[in-house]
Amino acid sequence: MPYNKQNIRLNNGGHIPSIGFGTSLITGDECINVIKKAIEVGYRHIDTAAAYKNEVEIGVAIKESQVKREDLFITSKVWKDSMGYENTLQSFNRTLKNLNLEYVDLFLIHWPKNNNDKLNIETWRALEKLYREGRVKNIGVSNFLKKHLEIILNNCDVIPAVNQIEFHPGLIRKDTIEFCKKKNIVLEAWAPLGKGKMLNNETLISIANKYNKSVAQCCLKWCLQNEVIPLPKSEKEERMRQNLDIFDFEISEKDMDVINNMQFFAGSDMDPNSFN
Ligand code: A2P
Repeated sequence: MPYNKQNIRLNNGGHIPSIGFGTSLITGDECINVIKKAIEVGYRHIDTAAAYKNEVEIGVAIKESQVKREDLFITSKVWKDSMGYENTLQSFNRTLKNLNLEYVDLFLIHWPKNNNDKLNIETWRALEKLYREGRVKNIGVSNFLKKHLEIILNNCDVIPAVNQIEFHPGLIRKDTIEFCKKKNIVLEAWAPLGKGKMLNNETLISIANKYNKSVAQCCLKWCLQNEVIPLPKSEKEERMRQNLDIFDFEISEKDMDVINNMQFFAGSDMDPNSFN
């Protein structure tokens, strides 16, 4: 079923807002204003990471916003150099302190470590402990391919609630997507606009024109219709609003097929098979 509502059910019974606000590369004092504005225009799901170096600013924006903590969904992630059982617990403590929060809604392993199943498993065990203690409402992974997920599923107790991957027209990791859906692992898309590089593509422009929507809106709607939660980012209010305004149209099956079959043409160069 395509995602067409505001909240998506997770495999542990919890819920996650169906659009999030990405924050990588948004740093410094400007970050406080951007996040406050994002919350003001309606985002309730904010995605950060220890590696983004903006947790403190996001914490300030949350405190200064008019929205109650329980109405926000905050994600952070443990970076590669903090993996392992004890390191992960410490990294999580820093994250909570930086964000100035009592809990986060979702905590992820940012990248799998290739050729080191032991480290991935130990890190996951730390997340399971945090989850059992209630300091994290949901736990998950990011950039995990099917092969990385299989190791976790075969060796651990809690099934990840979420897998956040790079996902945009021209980059669909079909194996991983199908595996996650089968295991009830909700997918999230980072760089759903291909870091802004999707927007001049002729095929996408002609599809977007049919629906009287922007290419960005089409990319985000395409994610939702593929049952993937997009995490777009923009520092501009008008675009923040535009990126939320995607529930009043439906991309036809034929156009979905065209986009689903596009070849890679832009995105990041970060490959979970080799990014270590
Ligand atoms: P800006 O912050 O100037 O709006 P991604 O989410 O895939 O990482 O892409 C983010 C990039 O896309 C940013 O450079 C952002 O620029 C740009 N962007 C975000 N939303 C829109 C939009 N609706 N129209 C055009 N560009 C957008």
